[in-house]
Amino acid sequence: MSIEQKIQTGRPPVIEIKDMTKVYVMGKTEVRALRGVSLTIHEGEYVAIIGASGSGKSTMMNMIGLLDQPSTGSYHIRGAEVSSLSKDRMADMRNKEIGFVFQRFNLLARTNARRQVELPLFYAGVASGKAAKMAVAALTRVGLGDRTDHKPDELSGGQQQRVAIARALVNTPSILLADEPTGALDSKTGAEVLTLFDELHQQGITLIVVTHDMGVARRAQRIITLRDGLVISDEPNEKQQVTAPDAHYLEPQANEQRLNSQPNTTSEAESLLTPSIRESEPVHENS
Ligand SMILES: Nc1ncnc2c1ncn2[C@@H]1O[C@H](COP(=O)(O)OP(=O)(O)O)[C@@H](O)[C@H]1O
Ligand SMILES: [Mg+2]
Repeated sequence: MSIEQKIQTGRPPVIEIKDMTKVYVMGKTEVRALRGVSLTIHEGEYVAIIGASGSGKSTMMNMIGLLDQPSTGSYHIRGAEVSSLSKDRMADMRNKEIGFVFQRFNLLARTNARRQVELPLFYAGVASGKAAKMAVAALTRVGLGDRTDHKPDELSGGQQQRVAIARALVNTPSILLADEPTGALDSKTGAEVLTLFDELHQQGITLIVVTHDMGVARRAQRIITLRDGLVISDEPNEKQQVTAPDAHYLEPQANEQRLNSQPNTTSEAESLLTPSIRESEPVHENS
């Protein structure tokens, strides 16, 4: 980290990307999805990444989220070089450092909120009693301390997304990465999620939201715009819109802890925790 960076923000960088490129090879055609992106994101920043369709947002998300490797360039998370890790090490790092929030929530249909949130802890080998406690605490943090036994169809869309956010946070990742987090919600429930993001930001979480919705991007502190695989602007958001102080979702105390066994997990369940990597892999990977 440069001295200027530390002086500017007082906080260490979480993400440092330098000259990152990503080329997808499709037969004889090469698609240069990222053409040399450099950016540094510090602890506690709230960043929106925007750009037109095809500008490289999803590719950027896959790189930041350790779902795929860049073609060239470096990527450090909290000082550790991660751009050329093996698939297994990448998965470990991803589980430890990144929480994902998706447009479509990716919740298990017949599973209550607490068990959904326990899922990543199960994969991390946390004992069930401790996992239950941590899950209830995470749900309480997103304002759902009184909904731990509810299944997705017993929750509103905004509440379902808050369960997904609790699941993303329960491992205490360094980075919360959200891809169109309000894309499947109406404006009222979408606002609920954005309010929660404001609160998480105030608590010091590093938050990166990929969106094409300027209404969502305006909530961030900083807006990075991609075009044709390049950062064309990276600006503090002077007009940042933050929720009024009375519209909060945080609850003061945790709900009573439930005693339950570990969730039944399947590879399908595991796949809900990260986006499908298949979409971002070259089409002719075997050729
Ligand atoms: N798996 C892939 N194989 C080949 N080309 C891809 C792949 N993924 C994305 N692209 C191409 O890379 C460019 C950037 O795509 P993407 O990152 O999905 O943009 P955005 O999310 O901003 O719409 C586009 O031209 C897209 O067609
Ligand atoms: Mg996309």
